[in-house]
Amino acid sequence: MTLLAVTGLGKRFAGLQAVDGVSFAVEPGEIYAVIGPNGAGKTTLLNLVTGIYAPSAGRVVLAGEDVTGLRPPDLAARGLSRTFQNLQIFSNLSAVENVMVGAHLRAETGFFAALFRWRGFEGKERALRAEAAELMRRLGIGELADAPAAAMPYGALKRLEIARALASRPRLLLLDEPAAGLNPSEARELVDVVRGIAASGVTIVLVEHNMPLVMAVSSRILVLHHGQKIAEGAPEAIRADREVIKAYLGVGRHTGVRELQDA
Ligand SMILES: Nc1ncnc2c1ncn2[C@@H]1O[C@H](COP(=O)(O)OP(=O)(O)OP(=O)(O)O)[C@@H](O)[C@H]1O
Ligand SMILES: [Mg+2]
Repeated sequence: MTLLAVTGLGKRFAGLQAVDGVSFAVEPGEIYAVIGPNGAGKTTLLNLVTGIYAPSAGRVVLAGEDVTGLRPPDLAARGLSRTFQNLQIFSNLSAVENVMVGAHLRAETGFFAALFRWRGFEGKERALRAEAAELMRRLGIGELADAPAAAMPYGALKRLEIARALASRPRLLLLDEPAAGLNPSEARELVDVVRGIAASGVTIVLVEHNMPLVMAVSSRILVLHHGQKIAEGAPEAIRADREVIKAYLGVGRHTGVRELQDA
């Protein structure tokens, strides 16, 4: 069954149609990328799917359930998780505690609630801490578990955000520019990080300007321009698409047409 189906999604800010009638579907196991020049509406699209904004038009269906307009905690309980374009780190907590915050978002019902009631609060905290530390190891930052988040280098903080998003055990993870601000070798390492997450059974929606990363990992790519979907397809097809090249022409700040074609 389709995991995420978005139909005719729109968001209007005073005088500006930031997202304009966008439709797409993400199948389980995909790494589905969303690209487009600065201001194209990529983050707004994520904000609509994750319940930060209510759409002005359209529907969001998650695993067959209409979730349009639900708030972020209700979507988290249904298996949706995300990272933010700007780091959202609790700098007064340790690294592993930052990841545990993500686990606390998980709905405490069913099996886990029963387990935790039986083991008590301390047992629960211990289990969450162990799981958070294991996630950090999987993301290659295990040695920083007890570090104060405020003292961590930027590249490690970007991974910490991903670890926290995974701590809620999502089915669908939405990443908003995980490579932003990374140096080229750190960005290259994200190829394996993203593939590893997908291989663990988490479907991914990836918003990104880093074309080598997008081209390396994506099953399909959606291209936004002025809030509209102008193309969708496999990486090779997108790289050669005339409309896409035109949209990127003259766009220099993050990614221009050279990066698109060289990737
Ligand atoms: N809360 C808001 N209120 C008013 N306008 C907004 C708001 N959020 C975004 N916009 C506008 O909507 C448009 C799309 O912005 P958005 O942040 O979604 O673009 P983006 O594709 O993520 O760009 P970037 O690649 O720079 O991150 C922009 O013109 C932006 O200024
Ligand atoms: Mg953005």
